[in-house]
Amino acid sequence: MKKLLIKGGNPLFGEVKIAGAKNATLPLMVASILCSDKLTLANVPHVSDISTMANLLVNLGIKISLDGTDFDLGNQGRVMILEGSNIINPVADYDLVRKMRASIFILGPLLARCGKARVSLPGGCAIGTRPVDLHLKALEALGAKFELSEGYVEGTVPHGRLRGGEIHFEKVSVGATENAMMAASLADGETIIYNSACEPEIIDLAKCLNAMGAKISGAGTPIIKIIGVNNLSSARHKIIADRIEAGTYAIAAGITKGKIKLIGVEDWILKGFKAELQSAGLIFNQISADVVEVSRQQDFINVVNISTNPFPGFPTDMQAQFMALMTLSNGVATIEENIFENRFMHVLELVRMNANIQSHGKIAIVKGVPNLKGAEVMATDLRASVCLVLAGLVADGQTTINRLYHLERGYERIAEKLINCGADIKILY
Ligand code: UD1
Repeated sequence: MKKLLIKGGNPLFGEVKIAGAKNATLPLMVASILCSDKLTLANVPHVSDISTMANLLVNLGIKISLDGTDFDLGNQGRVMILEGSNIINPVADYDLVRKMRASIFILGPLLARCGKARVSLPGGCAIGTRPVDLHLKALEALGAKFELSEGYVEGTVPHGRLRGGEIHFEKVSVGATENAMMAASLADGETIIYNSACEPEIIDLAKCLNAMGAKISGAGTPIIKIIGVNNLSSARHKIIADRIEAGTYAIAAGITKGKIKLIGVEDWILKGFKAELQSAGLIFNQISADVVEVSRQQDFINVVNISTNPFPGFPTDMQAQFMALMTLSNGVATIEENIFENRFMHVLELVRMNANIQSHGKIAIVKGVPNLKGAEVMATDLRASVCLVLAGLVADGQTTINRLYHLERGYERIAEKLINCGADIKILY
C-alpha cells in the first residue's frame, strides 16, 4: 500500500495550479445521463473519484473519452467527453456505489431519462451515517415511487415522466439539491426547490445544465426555480476551481510560513473560509482575476474559533485542515462540526503528532502547542488525510502517512505540487 513520507520544516514557496473541483465534476458527469448528445467538460481533475464515477457511467451505457487538450476552452486541464445516446442499463451495483457516495446522484437523472432506476444504497461511511432520505423525498415530490429491495433503491415513474413540484428540504443538502435540479430539468412543468444548498458547485451545475438547454434560475440562493424541458442537448463547460484544494494549499502556505500563488482561483469561491484564514494571520493578495497569493508574515498563528455550516458558512471539507493550523495557534480554539457526525477521526492522529486536542461530540478544543512532532499516522478519509499532510509539513522529523488512496480520491498530484513548492516528500510504493 502506498505511503507518503514527509520531512517537516521547509517553508513552502511557489505556484500551484488548482484543479477543477471534484465536487462540481461528479454531478456534471452525471448530467450526461440527461442528454443523448455530447457533453464536453474541461478542467476535469485527475483524481480517483472521477475514475470511479466514469466506471459507474460507462456501466450505464455512457460513452466517455478523455482529451488532454481543448483550445476552445482555454486548454486548461483534462477534457472529458461524455455521450449518453444509449442508456442500456439503469442500474448501479453495490460494488461501484460503495466506493463513492456521490453515486446516488445518478438516481434523479436516470428516473428523468429512463423512468426507472435501480441503485444500491451507499451504506455506511467513515464520516457518519449519511442517509439518502432527502434525495428520495425530493424525487418523490416530482412523482417518483421508491421501493427498497435487497439493499437497492428501486425507483419508477408511474406515468413515464417526472412532473414538476415543490420540494422543501428540511435540511440543506448539496447532493440532494443537485439530484433534484437534474431530475427537474427534464420534468413536466415547473419545480421550486426551497432551502436549496448554495455552494459554488451548485452554481456551476446550473450553468452547465442551462448551457445544455435547461431553464434554471436562482442557483446560489436558497430558492431554485426550474422549468422542465423536453430534452437537453450538447454543451461545453469549463469546471470551476476546487475551492477546498485552494484552501488546503492556502493553509500549507500559512502553516509553514511560506508564500504560495494559487493559479486558477477566483476570489468568490473562497467565501466561507477566507476571513477565518485571514483572522489566523494569513495574507491573501489577489494578483489577477484568478490568481491569489497566500502567505504568512507574522511569526505566530492567531487563535480562531470556527463552526462548520452550509455555504456561505465555514465548509466541513476544510474543518480538518483548519484544525491542523490551530494545533499551532497562540491560544485555545473551539472547532464545531455541524454537518457530519463523527468527522473528528483526525483528532487522535494529530494528538499522536503532539497536538493538544480534546473532542466531545461535535466540539473539539484545540490548544496550541509550540511544535508538532513527526509520527506514523493513518489516513481515515479524504480531508482527514490532508490535514495530516499539513501537520507533517511543519512537524519536527518525519511523518509517514499510510493509506494514501484516501488522498488520491480528491487531491490531484498532491506530492508533486507540494514538492514543487519545496516540501521534502517521498512516495513509498
Ligand atoms: C457534499 C460533498 C461533500 C461535503 C458535503 C457538505 C460532493 C460529492 N460531496 O456531500 O464533500 O462534505 O456536501 O458540504 O459534493 N443528509 C441527510 N439525508 C440525505 C442527504 C444528506 O440527512 O439524504 C445529511 C448528511 O448526513 C449531512 C447533511 O445532510 O449531515 C449534509 O450533507 P450533504 O450536503 O448532502 O452532503 P453530500 O452532498 O453527500
